[in-house]
Amino acid sequence: MPAPLSRPVFRGAVIGLGMMGRHHARLLQDTPGVGFAGAVDPAGDQHGAVRDADRVFTSTAELLAAGVPDFAILALPTEEHLSGARELAEAGVHLLIEKPLASTAAEAREIVAACERAGVHGAVGHVERCNPALVELRRRVRAGQLGEVFLIATERVGPFPNRIRDVGVVKDLATHDLDLVRWIGGAPIAQLAAQTQHRMGRDHEDLVLVTGSLESAVSFNIIVDWLSPAKVRRTRVLGELGMLVADTLTADLTFYENGDVASEWDATRSLRGVSEGDATRYALARREPLLVEHEGFLDLLAGHPDPAVVTLQEGLETVICAEAVLESAAGGRSVSPRLDPLAA
Ligand SMILES: NC(=O)c1ccc[n+]([C@@H]2O[C@H](COP(=O)([O-])OP(=O)(O)OC[C@H]3O[C@@H](n4cnc5c(N)ncnc54)[C@H](O)[C@@H]3O)[C@@H](O)[C@H]2O)c1
Repeated sequence: MPAPLSRPVFRGAVIGLGMMGRHHARLLQDTPGVGFAGAVDPAGDQHGAVRDADRVFTSTAELLAAGVPDFAILALPTEEHLSGARELAEAGVHLLIEKPLASTAAEAREIVAACERAGVHGAVGHVERCNPALVELRRRVRAGQLGEVFLIATERVGPFPNRIRDVGVVKDLATHDLDLVRWIGGAPIAQLAAQTQHRMGRDHEDLVLVTGSLESAVSFNIIVDWLSPAKVRRTRVLGELGMLVADTLTADLTFYENGDVASEWDATRSLRGVSEGDATRYALARREPLLVEHEGFLDLLAGHPDPAVVTLQEGLETVICAEAVLESAAGGRSVSPRLDPLAA
């Protein structure tokens, strides 16, 4: 995490006041040192997220006419990210865009290009990177606590949230995991094989299994669905010295150490593999992930040399990987995502 920095007061707006937008609006109104320029939603403020009704606009044009904000947080349905990003970037507004960056890699590339053309900063709201359990897990992995890492396994299952209309579980949810495995593992995804299922009668898939490897040869496994009657959010990293398990619903992190209790079986240790050792649950400071995400973005705007943000390029590569997952599932074969953005 970069050191705290004194920043100018930036004025921000929220575009889309739905399930995510209302939380962004709450934070912009409550965070000291941040100005709230207003929020845009053609459906109005259905969740009562904005305290001053004069700050709710029904179009981005209206918001811009009332005064161009320094930045905007895009919390629109994913298929509307591109049109929203274009309009605001052209007005010179810096953008924090909810994940996934866009519903297709082609649209994600257009967003990257629009921001570059306009010379505005952009970042993607992969908020799981701000979950305290995952931040600490990654810090410990990088510090060598597990020795060589063998496997990163994530599980993100639960009931279907009815509001999702425009994408399937791969782009809506598994994009969290595709981002996480490469962020924790520290290397891009080299290849993957996936299976999907359609059980709810929607156009899009509602279950996905992905197995693959990073360029560093670390293996990964992802299970995501909208079919389970209980919500599970778990990331497990296995290495030569033990295993770290993060529960991102409760922000708990536990270390399961390999056992080193000597026994008469030592002669056959290589056949038996590891044994169970001590388990330690760490006490963590549990800051709100979305607030931490905002702080990273504000650091970017303030010119911090190493802001904790997910770059547009990383957001694009995650959408490319999501498309590789769908391609693999449709074709029944392994796919190597083509991460060069110019190679489309
Ligand atoms: N980071 C996370 O963990 C996380 C969680 C949920 C959703 N999301 C992402 O956030 C985005 C929004 O998801 P949501 O669950 O809040 O959806 P939602 O449907 O609850 O909200 C979207 C809102 O956008 C409004 N809207 C539609 N068109 C608009 C336009 N042109 N201008 C302004 N507002 C418009 C809708 O009226 C609605 O209120 C999606 O990209 C989704 O993937 C991220």
